[in-house]
Order: sequence, then C-alpha cells, then structure tokens
Amino acid sequence: MGMFLNSRSPFGEYSSIAGTRYFVDKSAMIDEILEMVMGEGQRYFCITRPRRFGKSVMANMIASFFGRAVDGRDVFDRLAVAGGKYYQEHLNGHDVIYIDFSRLPRDCKCYEQYIQRI
Ligand SMILES: Nc1ncnc2c1ncn2[C@@H]1O[C@H](COP(=O)(O)OP(=O)(O)O)[C@@H](O)[C@H]1O
Ligand SMILES: [Mg+2]
Repeated sequence: MGMFLNSRSPFGEYSSIAGTRYFVDKSAMIDEILEMVMGEGQRYFCITRPRRFGKSVMANMIASFFGRAVDGRDVFDRLAVAGGKYYQEHLNGHDVIYIDFSRLPRDCKCYEQYIQRI
C-alpha cells in the first residue's frame, strides 16, 4: 500500500489506543457521519476543535474503519459501531487517502517540500 493511500498507520495508532484502559468508544460517530452522507448528501466535513480534543484519534478511527489497509473486525466488532446498520457494508469498504500535516516526514525540511512531494 502507498504512503497516503490505504496506509496502515492510522490502524496501528487507533488499535493501540483502543486497547488501553481509558479508551472511550466514540465509534458511534461513524454511523452519524454515514447518516449525513446517505441522508443529506453531505460530502465534506471539517472538524475544528482546540488541540487535545481527540481530533487525531477520530481521524485515525475513520481511516481505520473505512480504509482497506487492515481488516478492522478485531477492533471494531466490539465497539458501538458494530451494532449500526452500515457496519457490514462499509467496514474496510473504501479507499482512504490519509495525509497528516501535524508533523513533517523525516526527509522533508519544510511544508513546501512536503506538499510538493504529495
Ligand atoms: N477516544 C479516546 N479515548 C481515550 N483517549 C483519547 C480518545 N481520544 C483522544 N484521546 C487522548 O486524548 C489526547 C488528545 O487526543 P488527540 O487525538 O491527539 O487530540 P487532537 O488531535 O485534537 O489534538 C491523546 O492523549 C489521546 O490519546
Ligand atoms: Mg491532532
């Protein structure tokens, strides 16, 4: 798999937090997102919150759920989303492009270089 298309890293990040003692299951949000996409045809979401509000964990959750990189059943079968009506149809059912702008890759010296590479 590519560096940005169906990358395995969101799944790695999300499955490690999903196994911790203080993990909060927010996977029902996936159903809410799908309701908005299916029902209202809303296709773009911008999530803005101050730092440390859980945006990155949520982005990793979304990429892990929809992306084809890793079979998500081990993690998602025991979470709230598994009881939702879209679960079987959408779990690992999409190509996901995941780009993390919160840190520079090791071989990039500035954001211009990073964006150029993408
Ligand atoms: N669902 C969750 N369950 C438990 N801890 C979480 C959850 N979401 C976020 N956290 C923790 O909260 C902190 C901030 O989350 P993070 O996603 O990095 O926030 P942001 O990207 O908004 O700055 C991290 O230590 C992360 O592990
Ligand atoms: Mg973040």
